[in-house]
Amino acid sequence: MIGSLRQSQGLLEGVLLSLSGIYEQSLYLRDLLLFLDVRPQILSKPGAILVPRPITKGFVLEGVGYKYPGSEAYAVRELNFALRQGESVALVAENGAGKTTLVKLLSGLYDPDEARILLDGVDLREYDLVDLHRNIGVIFQDFLRFSFLFKENIGVGMVDEIDDWDRIQAAAANSLADTVAPTLTDGFDQQLGRKFEGGVDLSGGEWQKLALGRAYMRDAQLLILDEPTAALDARAEYEVFERFTELTRGRTAVLISHRFSTVRMADRIVVLEGGGMRETGTHQELLAQGGLYAELFNLQAEGYR
Ligand SMILES: Nc1ncnc2c1ncn2[C@@H]1O[C@H](COP(=O)(O)OP(=O)(O)OP(=O)(O)O)[C@@H](O)[C@H]1O
Ligand SMILES: [Mg+2]
Repeated sequence: MIGSLRQSQGLLEGVLLSLSGIYEQSLYLRDLLLFLDVRPQILSKPGAILVPRPITKGFVLEGVGYKYPGSEAYAVRELNFALRQGESVALVAENGAGKTTLVKLLSGLYDPDEARILLDGVDLREYDLVDLHRNIGVIFQDFLRFSFLFKENIGVGMVDEIDDWDRIQAAAANSLADTVAPTLTDGFDQQLGRKFEGGVDLSGGEWQKLALGRAYMRDAQLLILDEPTAALDARAEYEVFERFTELTRGRTAVLISHRFSTVRMADRIVVLEGGGMRETGTHQELLAQGGLYAELFNLQAEGYR
């Protein structure tokens, strides 16, 4: 009898343990279900049109205003700005002036609350969103670090082509990510992130090269780089931009950076302040104007004297 009592005690313990296990796992399941329930907030209209190839005129913002949901103040307001086909524009501004918001509006991630954005004369809302995203290669400031294989981290830039090895290699070469792969045991097949066994972590700059590779995965007509080199060393930054100028010759590009050495490479510089455009011109023109650009440039230059 004692034997069977002991046995049933063990069994009961087992049952309780499994029950608590089920509860624990169900918490994750809830996350998954919530995630699967998420619906995109902007959808393509029925009968949406495809983005012209090639784009001929470019993007025009006609006094655009945008407010983040739940926030009182406009992040950008009365923003007039034209991005002509084939030109490279650098956005310069202080923190919180609306640079990232502007490029998110351009790439169709948010809909303007006021006025509209035109692409080749047609409202951006008329275009098919998936096709629009396919045409825009972008790396955001707060890019993600996926616990995937090295090559997959680049491949996710264009999920449909994640198995296209040639494309991944070309993107890696353009973003300098190919200089990182040889330092890893498994090269391009290296598991990244500490979440998985054998996964390794990279340095901030190395992650950034991978994220940059993602932007190069697409046949983008517009390339947007939001502080793509903040974590790169001086040599890597120089090389990244040399390649960037080569690759974007004749293509449209928007570049956001707080480093004036980088900003000078653009065809045209646009200075934002408080969510609106304040100045525009070339580096020389803006310096001569002696406005906000000249002030910020001189502040930075001061540090190097
Ligand atoms: N997700 C958000 N929700 C609410 N407000 C936001 C959000 N993102 C940005 N803002 C606000 O919008 C304004 C513009 O922010 P934005 O990120 O575009 O600035 P930025 O020019 O990119 O700055 P930085 O140089 O720091 O990157 C800021 O006042 C900011 O507080
Ligand atoms: Mg920003």
